[in-house]
Amino acid sequence: MRFPDDVPTLTDGEVVLRAHGSADVPRIVQQCRDPESVAWTTVPTPYGEDDAAEWLGTVVPQGWARDTTYCFAVEHAGRFAGSVDLRMRGGGEAEVGFGLHPEARGQAVMRRALDLLLDWGFDQCGVAVVMWRAFVGNWASRRTAWSLGFTFGPTVPDLLPHRGERRDGWTGWIGAGDPRRPREPWLVPPVLDAGQVVLRPWHEDDAAGLVEAAGDPVLRRWIPDSPLPRSLDEVPAYLQRVRLGAATNQRVAWCVADRVTDAVLGNVAVFDFEDEADDLTAQVGYWSHPAGRGRGAMTEALRAACDWAMRPADAGGLGARRLYLLTSGRNDASRRLAERAGFVHVGTERQSAPVAGGGFEDNALYDRLRGDVR
Ligand SMILES: CC(C)(COP(=O)(O)OP(=O)(O)OC[C@H]1O[C@@H](n2cnc3c(N)ncnc32)[C@H](O)[C@@H]1OP(=O)(O)O)[C@@H](O)C(=O)NCCC(=O)NCCS
Repeated sequence: MRFPDDVPTLTDGEVVLRAHGSADVPRIVQQCRDPESVAWTTVPTPYGEDDAAEWLGTVVPQGWARDTTYCFAVEHAGRFAGSVDLRMRGGGEAEVGFGLHPEARGQAVMRRALDLLLDWGFDQCGVAVVMWRAFVGNWASRRTAWSLGFTFGPTVPDLLPHRGERRDGWTGWIGAGDPRRPREPWLVPPVLDAGQVVLRPWHEDDAAGLVEAAGDPVLRRWIPDSPLPRSLDEVPAYLQRVRLGAATNQRVAWCVADRVTDAVLGNVAVFDFEDEADDLTAQVGYWSHPAGRGRGAMTEALRAACDWAMRPADAGGLGARRLYLLTSGRNDASRRLAERAGFVHVGTERQSAPVAGGGFEDNALYDRLRGDVR
């Protein structure tokens, strides 16, 4: 296709996709110098007007002429707002690339732009599947792909080049007939008020508390295979996994924090979801930091998390009908905590709890049903 003559103009009434023009250069330069663009894309850095002119004069027209990459300018509120492209991989496969000018962010402009691009790719270019790839940690990009109905694939180690290194990549795809809405909920742990503690999402400032918990001999005795970070440099990857568990509807985890000091007292998590909506069954897990023991803090936290999990989905909860938990039969403190939070001992899972140093011991199985009287 010839650039710019064959470049269609696409619009939904709010956002316009059109051919780039030389008037876009100043805002392209601003966009490519923005720290988010530098962090999450492979734009040259430093970036100047010459780079933009070279890109507009050569790279973009060649992509159209060779039918390899169809790159559009995004216009919003009458101004250049960014770029989107469809990279043709052959055999009906394409990949999206995108970036917004900082002033256009936070208004779902990219969602609209990609919606238009996908319609055009599927309807006019014979595309059957569109891939999305992003550096691990690019949450704004992931959330944009999620909102459009992309299905997420594995995280691939070293998938993407970035300034002389290789970085792990998130992957996803959308097919021509797929609905343009999220495939699954993106869970967000709600802040829960529970007496002397507050349950809230984990964040970077909790790093020291996490590493202290990981090194605690009592925790290691009962959860020898805990994935907690052993050192401060393991914390970012740990938090990334926690957030990804929520974003993929697999797991909600809270930091149990002291109401007054916000210090880390423990963790409660709900995971292993089975069945749907208000018939959900889920497992509950917890651990406490040494500072959180012996003061009833974890009882309050576990009750609050379970009450939320059992609240109907349309009342803002998870809609669980049944919660269960497993704890070593010898772990008296944990068993008492479970009972105080309304769980009933219903059985034994023989030889299912790994023991530090090798071997297995019996797990006690507890559950709590909606409607149980505490
Ligand atoms: C990726 C990009 C185009 C998205 O555009 P945007 O305008 O920021 O997107 P939106 O604000 O419409 O949506 C981003 C969503 O991510 C969410 N988000 C942002 N940072 C987040 C984080 N750290 N954790 C969780 N969600 C996050 C926002 O809250 C928003 O969600 P909402 O729509 O439910 O409010 C834009 O951020 C950008 O240009 N980034 C730099 C270039 C880039 O990363 N390109 C993609 C390469 S794969």
